[in-house]
Amino acid sequence: MGTLIGLSRQGGIATLTLQRPDKLNALSQELLRECQEALKEVAADDRVGCLILRGEGRAFCAGADVSGMRELDPARATARFSGETVWQALENLPQPTIAAIHGYCFGGGCELVLACDLRLAADNATFGQPEIKLGIMPGAGGTQRLPRLVGMTLAKEMVLLGEPIGAPEAYRIGLVNRVVPAEQLLDEARRWADKLARLPPLALRMAKGVMNRGRGLDLPTALELERLGFGVLFGTEDQKEGMRAFLEKRPAAFQGR
Ligand code: COA
Repeated sequence: MGTLIGLSRQGGIATLTLQRPDKLNALSQELLRECQEALKEVAADDRVGCLILRGEGRAFCAGADVSGMRELDPARATARFSGETVWQALENLPQPTIAAIHGYCFGGGCELVLACDLRLAADNATFGQPEIKLGIMPGAGGTQRLPRLVGMTLAKEMVLLGEPIGAPEAYRIGLVNRVVPAEQLLDEARRWADKLARLPPLALRMAKGVMNRGRGLDLPTALELERLGFGVLFGTEDQKEGMRAFLEKRPAAFQGR
């Protein structure tokens, strides 16, 4: 692994840390390449039940590296977001993901958070899609994932005005799951991750996948996808264990099979 990110694993929890604090974890091409590799590694590691994404230093992430974008031409700017991007790899990661957000969470950084399954914010977090002020627009999900999460009215306000919002407002509009005091952010993220890592991984993957895929489908097709996913899980050991443990009034021990 390179030096711009850190990837660690403790039990069933992997933590991916953006590690470019002197530039507020601005997303350079090299940093994104390292993230892409790390996500591949996590996706293939069955020991990992949950991923936490965080940033080192005083911010989660101040967005795409503006210095690396300044001289892009249209073809290269478009190519940058073609193929499977880091944002898509994060959204499609089989394991559930938790963003632990403190300080600035802007532009491409905010878009990383939008691609996570759960979002925990420190009370000092601020969220924004300020691209408009640079003469561009969001290019990694801000115009698409943001309205799906918070509705078009508020997403248009954030994308068109480019003004940041604080953690309480982010919570109010449903952009984050919870706001906690900054000093408790990582402990709280680990608590959530620990819970997820103990739950049946095949059921978690199926629920995540069906929710992600279903969003783009018409309701009857999405409900059919749900029904099939539900049925498939009855072929797992974990379904048998989960129901047996419930009836025997004891905690379930899931094996991921
Ligand atoms: N790209 C490249 N470098 C960035 C960056 C970005 N998106 N965001 C911050 N940095 C760098 C700064 O240039 C500065 O580097 P330097 O110390 O070598 O000059 C360092 O990170 C610290 O940032 P600074 O601006 O001094 O901190 P601040 O607390 O005064 O302001 C922000 C913080 C987030 C308000 C401000 O950095 C900012 O507006 N960043 C750009 C946000 C943005 O437009 N993101 C979307 C990009 S498409």
